[in-house]
Amino acid sequence: MKAVKISEHVWWVGAIDWALKEFHGYTTHRGTTYNAFLIMADKVTLIDTVKAPFKNEMYARIASVIDPNKIDYIISNHAEMDHSGALPEVIRDLNPEKVFASVAGVKALQDHFRIGDQLTPVKTGDTISLGNLNVSFVETKMLHWPDSMFTYLAEDKVLFSQDGFGMHLATNQIFADENDWNVMETEMKRYYANILLPYAPQALKLLEIFPSLNLDIALIAPDHGPIWRGDLLLKPLELYGKWAAQAPAKQALVIYDTMWHSTEKLAFEIADGIRSTGVTVKVMNLDGHSRSDVAAEMLDIGALVVGSPTINNGLFPRTADVLTYLKGLRPKNLIGAAFGSFGWSGEAVAQINEYLKAMNVELVSDGLKIKYIPAEAELAQAWDFGKQIGEKLLEKVQ
Ligand code: FEO
Repeated sequence: MKAVKISEHVWWVGAIDWALKEFHGYTTHRGTTYNAFLIMADKVTLIDTVKAPFKNEMYARIASVIDPNKIDYIISNHAEMDHSGALPEVIRDLNPEKVFASVAGVKALQDHFRIGDQLTPVKTGDTISLGNLNVSFVETKMLHWPDSMFTYLAEDKVLFSQDGFGMHLATNQIFADENDWNVMETEMKRYYANILLPYAPQALKLLEIFPSLNLDIALIAPDHGPIWRGDLLLKPLELYGKWAAQAPAKQALVIYDTMWHSTEKLAFEIADGIRSTGVTVKVMNLDGHSRSDVAAEMLDIGALVVGSPTINNGLFPRTADVLTYLKGLRPKNLIGAAFGSFGWSGEAVAQINEYLKAMNVELVSDGLKIKYIPAEAELAQAWDFGKQIGEKLLEKVQ
C-alpha cells in the first residue's frame, strides 16, 4: 500500500474500508475511508490516525514515504474512534514528541484512552511551527463533537476539516473531481443528515465566520471520502449552507410500516391526496428503507407523515426505531401528521404524535385512525387527509 501525494508537502496515508455497512446506526452502503495525512515538514506531522484495525494499512502507506518512527508530531482533529482508535498504539509504537488536540480533544483522548504525557492543547488562532512550515487551528465545537477542530497548513493552502465536508464513500479516487458527482452528492447528503443535522446552528455559524478567517484554501481534506479542489472546492460549503438552513420545501414524505396492508393502503391514498395539491410526495415503506435513508430525506421536505399499525398497544418496531433516530437528529421547519390502522386499542397514532411533537413538528391534525381494513369511505377520508396536509404545506411555503 502506498501513500498518495496531494500537495507539495502532504501525503494521504489513510485507509479504505470497502466493507463497512453500518456506522453507529447509520447504514453505509458504499463503505468509507479513514483519511490520515502526513505533512513532510522539518517536524514530520501526522494529521489524525485511523480506526484501530486499519493501523497497519496506515503504517504501510506512511512507510512508502518515510520511516513511521520519524514522525515528530500528531495532530488529532477529532477524538471519535474512527480517527483516534489507532492513536494509543501509534503513540506507543512511535513515541512522537507531541500530540496536539483542542482543549476538549485533550480531555476526550484522556477520557477514552487514559493517555496524557504528549497531549498538548491548542485553540482557535494558535499557530505551531513545524520548522519550515506552519499549521494553525480553528475549533469547530459540536461539528460534531465538543473536541472537533480544523487544521490549516498555510504553505500548501490545505484545510484539514475532519468529519466536516466528508462522506462515507470507499474510493481509490482521492480527489472529488475524479469521482461521480451524483454518487458524491448523495453520500455527502446522507453524511450531513445522519451525522451533522442536529448541529445546523453550528454549521451556519461556521459558514458565517468562514470568510473572516482569511484562509487561502486550495484543498479541503476531510477525514472521510474524497478531497475537494478546483471547481468543486467550495461546493461542500454551498451545500452545507443549503442543508443547514433547512428551508421548508414543497415536498412531503410519507413513511409507514404495515401489518396486513391496511396502513399501506392509507399511505398510498394520503400520498395521492397530497399530490393533488401540487406538492411533490415520496412514499417509503420502512420494510426496505433504513433509518439513514429516511434521515437523508429530511433535507428535502416540508412535511413528514408517519404511519404505523398498532401492535401490542404500541408502534411497529421499525417505526419506533426510525422515529427515535429522527428525534435525535432534530430536523427543523416541518409540518406533519400521523396515521394508522388498528384493531381494538389503536395507540400508535397518539404515540407517533408524541414523537412528532418532541421534534417540534407542527401537527396538521390529531391524526387519522382507521379500524381494521379501510373501505371506500375510509380511503376517501385518507385522501382528504393527504389533501389537507398538502394545503397546509402550501400555506407555509408560499
Ligand atoms: Fe468520522 Fe465523528 O468521526
